[in-house]
Amino acid sequence: MNISDSELIRAILISNGHQIISSEADAEVVLMNTCAIRENAHRKIYGRLDTLRPLKKQRQAEGRPFVVGVLGCMAQNLKEELLDHPVANLVVGPDNYRSLPHLIDRIVQTNHPQEGTPSEILASLSEYETYSDIAPARIAGVNAWVTIMRGCDNFCTFCVVPYTRGRERSLPISSILEQLSDLVKSGYKQATLLGQNVNSYCYEGAHFADLMIQSAQIPGLKRIRFTSPHPKDFPEKLLYAIAEYPNICKHIHLPLQSGSNRILNRMNRTYTSQEFFDLVKTIRRILPTATLTTDIIVGFPTETEAEFQETVQVMKTVQFNNAFIFKYSERKGTIAGRDYPDDVSEADKTDRIVRLNAIQHEIAFAKHRHYIGQTVQVLIEGMADKGVDWQMGKTEGNLTVVFPKTVFHPGEFVEVEISETTAGTLYAG
Ligand code: 5AD
Ligand code: SF4
Repeated sequence: MNISDSELIRAILISNGHQIISSEADAEVVLMNTCAIRENAHRKIYGRLDTLRPLKKQRQAEGRPFVVGVLGCMAQNLKEELLDHPVANLVVGPDNYRSLPHLIDRIVQTNHPQEGTPSEILASLSEYETYSDIAPARIAGVNAWVTIMRGCDNFCTFCVVPYTRGRERSLPISSILEQLSDLVKSGYKQATLLGQNVNSYCYEGAHFADLMIQSAQIPGLKRIRFTSPHPKDFPEKLLYAIAEYPNICKHIHLPLQSGSNRILNRMNRTYTSQEFFDLVKTIRRILPTATLTTDIIVGFPTETEAEFQETVQVMKTVQFNNAFIFKYSERKGTIAGRDYPDDVSEADKTDRIVRLNAIQHEIAFAKHRHYIGQTVQVLIEGMADKGVDWQMGKTEGNLTVVFPKTVFHPGEFVEVEISETTAGTLYAG
């Protein structure tokens, strides 16, 4: 979502006469688009701000303005607090990007060589802003991110997103379809439709399944992905659409968060582990080849070892292809942050994440061995880390495949026979 937002921000800046350059040292404005989902995301940004101290000092000595902006969720969450950092002087939330050129101009114009650079802050949420009239300035590649909705109304108790991105709002279906057609014309082979909860997509009576069906019919769009759905409202209509259209990738990222009903309830996830499992069964009935991935939080307040074991059990039963496992991180302003003391020790959180990662690793390792001897279709993304003689790409199930260099280029498809696998990668050749 942040990559997608940065593409919007670039478009706004470019259309106002700014130029995007690659070196911080030569830049007059440095903007960081930030995430607030866990504390380590915050820490990273404070670290990046610290690295800009010498540059800031140098510019101050020269009497030249130096605009350092913190944008996005962290800006919305921390607001004025960010200006306590001696380097940051611009704070702009996710719904205020249109004002960026004006705020930058104001800082530059009121800069005082002796007194230093002034500050500007704008972090007000909107119920309407979707930026649907702005064509994102995308980075060239195989995949294009396409935001279809902004915000979230689910209020999972651990999550800061409803507070940093505000209320749910969907982009007009016509503007999404137009973007997709333009992407094909620009050479993109794949589009990933993005939203905090894509199944809440609703525009003038059209729901997410309708949008997917129309998107799949865009000529030349070779692959369509989407992320993320919420398990509470996954319609069968969407599963049948995924089954019907060959260009909709058979991969579903379905965040479970916990396998314990008591914890799920305290997280306000509004489903039980049985309901989640029933949904998985339906997915496998309609889409037998689909890969499944998930997100898990360990160490949510009051989670006991027995409840953690319930998560282990669900993971063993479902057998995800991959899982993103996080330690609970208390967020300012959330319901859990207010009502539930963060009482699982750091040592227990670490112990649980290490054990769960090991279990998931074994599951994925065993699961992916079945691909040995099979021929899979790969959309080439580029060179593999393994060396210059190797390329990498993705299966429609979003599994990474590494194979000997071919005559084909990124954006083209190859068929390769899998000869070796690890928990995370399939190898051919
Ligand atoms: N602590 C840990 N993980 C979190 N996530 C969201 N909020 C938190 C938090 N406070 C995780 C969830 C979500 C993913 C994007 O990030 O698993 O699905
Ligand atoms: Fe956060 Fe829950 Fe919304 Fe996902 S659905 S963004 S976890 S509040």
